[in-house]
Amino acid sequence: MKPIQVGLLGIGTVGSGTFEVLKRNQEEIQRRAGRGIEVTMVADLDVARAKSIVGANVQVVDDARKIIANPDIDIVVELIGGYGIAKQLVLEAIEAGKHVVTANKALLAVHGTEIFAAAHKKGVMVAFEAAVAGGIPIIKALREGLTANRIQWLAGIINGTTNFILSEMRDKGLTFDDVLKQAQALGYAEADPTFDIEGVDAAHKATIMSAIAFGVPVQFDKAYVEGITKLESQDIKYAEQLGYRIKLLGISKRTAAGIELRVHPCLVPSKRLIANVEGAMNAVMVQADAVGTTLYYGKGAGSEPTASAVIADLVDITRLHTADPLNRVPHLAFQPDAMSNLAILPMAQVVTSYYLRLRVADQAGVLAKVTGILANTDISIDAVLQREAGEGESHTDLIILTHDCVEAKMNEAIAEMQQLSTVLAPITRIRKEELN
Ligand code: HSE
Repeated sequence: MKPIQVGLLGIGTVGSGTFEVLKRNQEEIQRRAGRGIEVTMVADLDVARAKSIVGANVQVVDDARKIIANPDIDIVVELIGGYGIAKQLVLEAIEAGKHVVTANKALLAVHGTEIFAAAHKKGVMVAFEAAVAGGIPIIKALREGLTANRIQWLAGIINGTTNFILSEMRDKGLTFDDVLKQAQALGYAEADPTFDIEGVDAAHKATIMSAIAFGVPVQFDKAYVEGITKLESQDIKYAEQLGYRIKLLGISKRTAAGIELRVHPCLVPSKRLIANVEGAMNAVMVQADAVGTTLYYGKGAGSEPTASAVIADLVDITRLHTADPLNRVPHLAFQPDAMSNLAILPMAQVVTSYYLRLRVADQAGVLAKVTGILANTDISIDAVLQREAGEGESHTDLIILTHDCVEAKMNEAIAEMQQLSTVLAPITRIRKEELN
């Protein structure tokens, strides 16, 4: 049978990895897919560079639409990124009857509903394993491996840049700014790292996982997003003394009231495996009713790890493209007419526990006032740590861990504590998840 023909839109880090791994493992991949998979066209603005990667046997063009217009191309792989031209090209490829593979989390988290509807109408597949946690097959796990289960929650370290920064801050006691500069100098962080450090990249990925786990539409606009820019190394140190590590987690939970979808720094017990995921590695923990807890770990970025996910999608499409579209795996795991309308909860309705750090005057009665406010707001304290005031210091740090409470109550309590004349600086609040 003639090989499946693939056109790459963009041949940067992931595109060149895809080309290389497809070539290197050609025979093995063909034995799995049932037929060959060949990149026969590449579109890239830098034609000379693209040619130097793919050689003379692959047609290189500078206009992506030439790939979409080519009737011989079966699958279009979108590796451009962003929601501008990438969205247009994906929709045009679908309209032209091509299957699409994409690593574009931003595009799917924001415009997924429109894209999946277009693909459903046209009877083509849109596959996106590479969009979440790079090489970790988490989409496959959630959509197929765990299909027997009612998923209760998932929590993931799904941004390598921020996990690298947090690991360095903890290991070396450095500040956020220092580590970020170092990471940029080493090429670990983008020149403009905003999407990573502000939690947006993780929220795109959490949004996609949430949709697949709970059968709800992708709703990035409803996600709560908080990055790591305000984290101080002293909080990492205090957390450690209390038996916790701070990680940037993407969390989605099913509750009776609706779905929680949030990204924020989070205290996690040091003894959990996920708390020990260090450097740029990614991991996703899933709690489901039949299987219990499962954990998926691996490289969340990089040329060949991401290519591994892209090629897994190419193989899936190769195996399934002749199947009746209604018998294929649904894009978001649940059949399109069986999606749930469970609401994504506003952050004020989220229930979690908290780490609070208060800079307080070292005077009689301060602790009583603070704990009194928590008691009046019905917030139960789990642990208290007070730093011994340094010589000549008239203030100290009070660290409080609470039990679960609804975020609206915690907002009230913090606002009230902040009014105390003995609370000398803005209160630091970091959410905490036991993940048990
Ligand atoms: N910028 C991402 C990260 C990789 O740091 O994990 C691509 O999603």
